[in-house]
Amino acid sequence: MILGLCGSPRAQATEHVLEATLKMLEERGLETRLWTVRGKRIGFCVHCDGCLGGGGCVIQDDVQEVYPLLREAEGLIIASPVYNGGVSAQMKAVMDRTRALLASDPDSLRGKPGMAIAVGGDRAGGQELALQQISTYYTINGVLTLSGGFFGANLGASFWSKDTLAGVKGDEEGFRGLRKTVKRFSEHIKRREPET
Ligand SMILES: Cc1cc2nc3c(=O)[nH]c(=O)nc-3n(C[C@H](O)[C@H](O)[C@H](O)COP(=O)(O)O)c2cc1C
Repeated sequence: MILGLCGSPRAQATEHVLEATLKMLEERGLETRLWTVRGKRIGFCVHCDGCLGGGGCVIQDDVQEVYPLLREAEGLIIASPVYNGGVSAQMKAVMDRTRALLASDPDSLRGKPGMAIAVGGDRAGGQELALQQISTYYTINGVLTLSGGFFGANLGASFWSKDTLAGVKGDEEGFRGLRKTVKRFSEHIKRREPET
């Protein structure tokens, strides 16, 4: 299962792009699952170190749903709106809370492929910084970042929404980069699957 995490609190541009991404992966024969921060109760990591004993996060909220999904996932997609040149606060809180997962099983994400999607309202509003933030998170936690490569998707998929759903739907260059990234990502997953 490929897990797509959506960092937008709205059913708008980022969710649309992530749903399109998962559809592309399903067309390539992969099972997917979307988890969104939208409507969820998400507390901040308070560095209580309660998780370091390996018993999980002490904060009982909706982030608890994410831990088993992350464990089960064979690949990870983080899609976030750009907020002040980085990922949304909701997405960052989820990233921080995965410390509890890694504390109980340091290998739970290791070697899994990950791709990054950033959706900004401005053409150059910090998408590359948000993509970099996601790929830094991947690096720290042992996830292998996959982009679509040069000529369109250097660091992952970057979108310009013009702050609207219609805007992101019309971002042909964004979708071109997304298709390149999805292609590499799914080819990598297929190579990892055992022969039947
Ligand atoms: C608090 C906040 C900060 C934002 N900061 C940026 C920014 O730094 N750069 C940018 O391009 N857009 C910024 N935006 C605009 C959103 O990234 C843009 O509207 C995006 O499409 C929102 O995604 P959504 O439609 O999935 O909610 C910001 C929006 C909010 C609410």
